[in-house]
Amino acid sequence: DWTMAEFRATKIKEIREQVGSGRVICGLSGGVDSAVAAVLIHEAIGHQLTCVFVDHGLMRLGEAEQVVSLFKGHYNIPLVHVDASEMFLGGLAGVTDPEAKRKFIGKAFIDLFEAEAKKIGGADFLAQGTLYPDVIESVSFTGGPSVTIKSHHNVGGLPERMNMQLVEPLRELFKDEVRALGKELGLPDVFVGRHPFPGPGLAIRIPGEVTQERCDILRKADAIYLEEIRNAGLYDAIWQAFAVLLPVRTVGVMGDYRTYDNVLALRAVTSTDGMTADIYPFEAAFLSAVATRIINEVKGINRVVYDFTSKPPGTIEWE
Ligand code: XMP
Repeated sequence: DWTMAEFRATKIKEIREQVGSGRVICGLSGGVDSAVAAVLIHEAIGHQLTCVFVDHGLMRLGEAEQVVSLFKGHYNIPLVHVDASEMFLGGLAGVTDPEAKRKFIGKAFIDLFEAEAKKIGGADFLAQGTLYPDVIESVSFTGGPSVTIKSHHNVGGLPERMNMQLVEPLRELFKDEVRALGKELGLPDVFVGRHPFPGPGLAIRIPGEVTQERCDILRKADAIYLEEIRNAGLYDAIWQAFAVLLPVRTVGVMGDYRTYDNVLALRAVTSTDGMTADIYPFEAAFLSAVATRIINEVKGINRVVYDFTSKPPGTIEWE
């Protein structure tokens, strides 16, 4: 029987023991997990920690700004903000295979952290917000023989040449526990309550090739969908809701014109740990209103569909 206050105290002690007088670099992804890990580690070792926020240009609308203001404004934790969107989009050009996308993004993160570590005169540790389900799912689906479903960008260790050890204080926790710990550490409710967002970001919500134009289209549509969910008071009842921009164009009609544009899929699921999930049963009128808004307001989309697949057999993300 332990409380989050005890967990916090125990982890702070463990982090101090592991790190000693070493330097730690922590990658922030924009999500809750890495933010909670960073705040906890900062509490343990203060200025020995350098936080690096790599903006890969694959964030949701306004997300990068929210992270920067949380760290600089709320906590006053120093933050290195790396704008690497050109590098990521450049590297993703022509890449369509889901695992190839994940592997490229994972490696690019590590390379950038390594470069930032050099700038501060070297770091001994890399901190990450890896959770228990990330560890399990990257190894196998249900604990059975090892079959990789998806390579989570923050699991799988570091290249040997790096000579850095991992600090992963959340490795035993599930999402709801991380949220409780985040509250315990004083993170604002709106931040702690945010839906999970995968490290590879919008890249894995754009099946096929990821381009700047497709990212922009998806970001706009996703923001409208989430705004409608919030306005309807449904945000907290849903584990995760997001849009996926499909590499399929269909024919439509707008006024007197024929259109030939992209299809957008909407997904929303309930879950307790992300390992299994059920679809969220929106009312048809709600989905229809969202579809109308998106088609009217987002150039490049002329059809919206809803994903009715639970997990299993589907995964939550499409790639
Ligand atoms: P899947 O798609 O595997 O997702 O059913 C389960 C949960 O994990 C999130 N997810 C990730 N989180 N890095 C992360 O930090 C990743 O590479 C990653 N891939 C999936 C997903 O959004 C869902 O909440």
